[in-house]
Amino acid sequence: MDWRNVVEFSDDVYWVGARDWNRRLFDALIPLPKGTTYNSYLIVGEKKNALIDTVNPGFEKELEEKIRQIIDPKDVDYLVMNHAEPDHAGTIPHFLDLNSKAVLVTTSRGAKMAETFYKVPEKRIKIVSDQETIELGGKTLRFIEAPMLHWPETMFTYLSQPGILFPCDFFGSHLAKGVYDDEVEDLIVHARRYFGEIMMPFRNMAEKALEKIEDLRINIIAPSHGPIHKNTQRILEAYKRWARGETRQKATIIYVTMWKSTEKMIHPIAETLAAENIEIALHDLTSADIGDIVEDLVESRAIVLGAPTALGGMHPIALNAAQLVKALRPPAKFGAFLTSYGWGGGALRQAKEILTSAKIEIVGAIEVKGPPSESDIQQVIELGKTLARKISNEDN
Ligand code: FEO
Repeated sequence: MDWRNVVEFSDDVYWVGARDWNRRLFDALIPLPKGTTYNSYLIVGEKKNALIDTVNPGFEKELEEKIRQIIDPKDVDYLVMNHAEPDHAGTIPHFLDLNSKAVLVTTSRGAKMAETFYKVPEKRIKIVSDQETIELGGKTLRFIEAPMLHWPETMFTYLSQPGILFPCDFFGSHLAKGVYDDEVEDLIVHARRYFGEIMMPFRNMAEKALEKIEDLRINIIAPSHGPIHKNTQRILEAYKRWARGETRQKATIIYVTMWKSTEKMIHPIAETLAAENIEIALHDLTSADIGDIVEDLVESRAIVLGAPTALGGMHPIALNAAQLVKALRPPAKFGAFLTSYGWGGGALRQAKEILTSAKIEIVGAIEVKGPPSESDIQQVIELGKTLARKISNEDN
């Protein structure tokens, strides 16, 4: 008997993915404190069988053996590639070697990527257009183009009977544990973190995709990372809010300090904002988890950045964080910058350039030479009050 766990979560629809408990980094950037899953799904029809996405390289035998518990892997007719990133598509060459009849089903952009990245010959690719369907016998697959979520070729697959959406990365979360959403108490936090890391730069495309699936009867959402959503309304409503860029009365404060001068301004502004009933999240960039910062940014209305001048510009750790914030395009409208220098500035100019190009209104910036004086701290408190008013007035 095979000990590998497969899950039939709907009639003849199986989870055959892999759990990567020990992975701690994704894209050489994103921390994975809870590991992740590479979800692959097998659909057994009366006439044809389909596999939705594969798994990260290194897990190909696990996928193969899991499929074998249900059908012979050679009996898969369609290998659907919703997304070409290697964590879902990297095992395609192994699978197509194993099964000489299966065709790869993907978008036209996906076809080019499959040829480039995985050397899939053209004759083994079936390009599907938006809303095209494939009959499996008693089950119908519909393909929905959803580009730039988060690569150009991305699409969703919808199984109309009984209403299962396979959206690949969309609606995902980096969690190794949990088959279903109700097994993870703080799933929405992990989903928000994932949205911030992967989907936030593409909020306009996310909104378009959400509109596109609005009229579908969706009973289950089966993403490619993390648990399967049975409570589809919860994750759909959250995604609508995040894609629209709805923010709360919240400020994310990120800073780095060398000799505590910057930190001496960070604490008063944090306390002032809190006293004005603004929710705050504070991260020292030398020890913070990037994913935690990003999770906070998804719903923050303001960002406070603190960094000294070092080597003629913003401290490199803060510069890196500021560039990352700009690239992730969070919905924050307001910003403030606090900085100190020893003998020559440079950080202030850089911070203004980056925050302005990120379309963040700089409500105030305070630059001090050496440690802040009592009057500097008073200015910081006043800036905190002004920022709090800006944040609160957005609700009116
Ligand atoms: Fe999970 Fe974009 O790959």
